[in-house]
Amino acid sequence: MSQFQPRVFSGVQPTGNLHLGNYLGAISRFVPLQDEMPTIYCVVDLHAITVKHDPAVLTANTREVTAAYLAAGIDPGKAIIFNQSQVREHAELAWIFNCIARMGWLSRMTQFKEKAGKNRENASVGLFAYPTLMAADILAYRATHVPVGDDQKQHLELTRDIAQKFNNDFADRVKELGLGVANPAPSPELPDELFFPLTEPMIAGPATRIMSLRDGTKKMSKSDASDLSRINLRDSADEIAKKIRKAKTDPEPLSSELDGLSERPEALNLVGIYAALSGRTKEEVLSEYGGQPFSVFKPALADLAVDKLAPMTDEMNRLLADETHIDGILREGAGRASEIAAPVLRDVRRIMGFLEGR
Ligand code: TRP
Repeated sequence: MSQFQPRVFSGVQPTGNLHLGNYLGAISRFVPLQDEMPTIYCVVDLHAITVKHDPAVLTANTREVTAAYLAAGIDPGKAIIFNQSQVREHAELAWIFNCIARMGWLSRMTQFKEKAGKNRENASVGLFAYPTLMAADILAYRATHVPVGDDQKQHLELTRDIAQKFNNDFADRVKELGLGVANPAPSPELPDELFFPLTEPMIAGPATRIMSLRDGTKKMSKSDASDLSRINLRDSADEIAKKIRKAKTDPEPLSSELDGLSERPEALNLVGIYAALSGRTKEEVLSEYGGQPFSVFKPALADLAVDKLAPMTDEMNRLLADETHIDGILREGAGRASEIAAPVLRDVRRIMGFLEGR
């Protein structure tokens, strides 16, 4: 019997204002994986309409995320890059998963509670069902590995729950049709043949979590009212330097040990950003800058950030000047993605018992 092919899938929403947190927590981590196994990186435009959106802005943001993928070093000759809405299988599988997932499971999702806020009656049904579409994104390719930030952990657990319920509910049917894959981790609760893999999350630890430059206890976010709170991937070198200069800190010099920063979230965040951008550990950064005041550390960090990000910004701007090229990459990626997802959905339709008049 066949085995699940290792495959990476991940996605970024085209909701604008890509920032350093998106880059360090997600996009930069996608790059090395393309040399290790088949990888699929999606611009999840169907997810972007779960809240009110402007169509022209969605189009522009879809190109912007694509440009960020490319500028970060994702190579369309290796990875598949495409936007979700061009591959119909995502929406189709999401509907089927809406009928597998339980109301109770989705009601527990913290991202829904946060995004819906107090006025839950007025949230779109799509916002509630967001995680079933995410499960469909992953499972339409039977992806085995999903790199994401730690805020997506709950959604990945839900993806496993959906896969598991599908595998259980239709175990006999899957076997009968000969569509099963040997369960790589046999257990009493699971059938010995599976249709969907139980996807492994590859969660970036809290160590790579980038916080707001204005408040070290809040995540860096595109929705923060203050633009000074984040470094956007399309900020100019001057803007980057200014935001780091103005970043909130305390009056103490940096400590030489990491323990010394445990009560200093802003200092810890800047050291974390330095570490992530230079590919070093926070300890290594502190062994160099421990004892130094921020008047020394901040300019060093600003230089490093500009060095690392300016070439990427330039490349994004260069790519965005040629829409035909970007759109062509997405179209070609969508074609390759469909070739993988279409046969999976053909099998799913047979498993479900849908009649096809052919
Ligand atoms: N929900 C993810 C986020 O907000 C984006 C996403 C959609 C995704 N579908 C996915 C991530 C599938 C990984 C795999 O970051």
